[in-house]
Amino acid sequence: MQVLRVVGGARLSGSVEVVGAKNSVLKLMAATLLAPGASTVGNLPAISDVTIMRQLLEGMGCGAQESRIDAVDRVTITVPDKLSPEAPYDLVRKIRGSICVLGPLIARTGRAKVALPGGDAIGTRPLDMHFAGLEKMGVDIRIEHGYVVADSTELRGANIWLDFPSVGATENIMTAAVLAKGTTVIDNAAREPEIVDLCQMLVSMGAQIDGIGSSTLEITGVEGLHATSHDAVPDRIVAGTWAMAALATRGDITVRGAKPEHLRILLDKVDQAGGVVETRVDGFRVSIDRRPKSFDVVTLPYPGLATDLQPQAIAALSVAEGTAMITENLFEARFMFCDEIARMGADVRTDGHHAVVRGREALSGAPVRATDIRAGVGLVIAGLVADGVTEVAEIHHIDRGYVRFEEQLRDLGADVERVESTTFGG
Ligand code: UD1
Repeated sequence: MQVLRVVGGARLSGSVEVVGAKNSVLKLMAATLLAPGASTVGNLPAISDVTIMRQLLEGMGCGAQESRIDAVDRVTITVPDKLSPEAPYDLVRKIRGSICVLGPLIARTGRAKVALPGGDAIGTRPLDMHFAGLEKMGVDIRIEHGYVVADSTELRGANIWLDFPSVGATENIMTAAVLAKGTTVIDNAAREPEIVDLCQMLVSMGAQIDGIGSSTLEITGVEGLHATSHDAVPDRIVAGTWAMAALATRGDITVRGAKPEHLRILLDKVDQAGGVVETRVDGFRVSIDRRPKSFDVVTLPYPGLATDLQPQAIAALSVAEGTAMITENLFEARFMFCDEIARMGADVRTDGHHAVVRGREALSGAPVRATDIRAGVGLVIAGLVADGVTEVAEIHHIDRGYVRFEEQLRDLGADVERVESTTFGG
């Protein structure tokens, strides 16, 4: 089994580059289904989730061609007039985000058959709000043999209130509404930068959307959309991961290509911890030359602090001065990560959706398993501040969302290698 072998002790220093966000690119790629012709998505990260989304679209009859122009990776997706509206289980189970093809398929073909993604290591992730919204728009939805089967004879605008500002539900409803008859209003819509990015791409395809960036989106359906070219928003979660790595290792990292305005709360935590944040035209720099001070974390939908940054924050807090309270409001099962970091000597106790982290001077290297993408990078950060060797297993999770992660770490001075494990069995 391949693992990341981390030898702790380095103070990370230097500069890294952030490209397009996984959680945007997957949705942008799915949205190309809305218009026949060749659409291009740029600022593409070279991660395995993108490969799987590409295979999913190819299975529906699309062509996909990757290219690199002026050091920017892109994928051009050629969408046929007639799509095969089916997303099979073997691909959907690998990336839960593939459920985002549901809205575009219904809008384009009036039909979709998308495998139910199934369980996920960060907890149960129901789709009830996706379904309720689409049903209000006249879509008949049923579960048959593990698939979501959706049919609509006439997709029509509706007033939809979401119980919670779900990213996925907002996206599926929005991508169906752009081609529906009449106006759809989504209240309590998610406001993540990735939602704004998707709205902007849809507008560039000819969609009519008001309230972009607010919690009320008003979408007036149009007859048809046209192909486009759009660059994905930078990955704020990857950028925030580097900020936490700088804090934990008492380092100095410049993150190029990032948008600090998408990380306001996290960067404020860096400040509370005694770090220095320098905002630059093309990103930001985080540096700290002392042991970080503890800070509390409450995860919330954007503009709150992202749940996808919670494990990385816990990793930094595990070596901070003082005690921190973590409140996880989105995915409780994310705390599975705490059992792993505890194997490295971290003092973390959980109770329901709260965790208490008492900072230690240092951790102690151990074999640990990544339970999901963010847990994986959190454990690598912990390994960087641990005595001796840490082996992080199940690194396919990290490859789902981080481009050349260990190379970038090495560029910053870390001792990290991808090796065959001497500890974990096959
Ligand atoms: C997306 C991100 C994920 C991130 C999450 C929250 C992608 C591919 N994934 O996931 O990395 O952690 O946003 O920022 O973009 N919920 C329901 N019913 C529904 C839908 C959601 O109860 O129909 C609940 C979920 O269980 C969760 C909360 O709503 O507690 C938020 O989930 P949601 O925003 O939908 O997350 P995803 O779109 O799945």
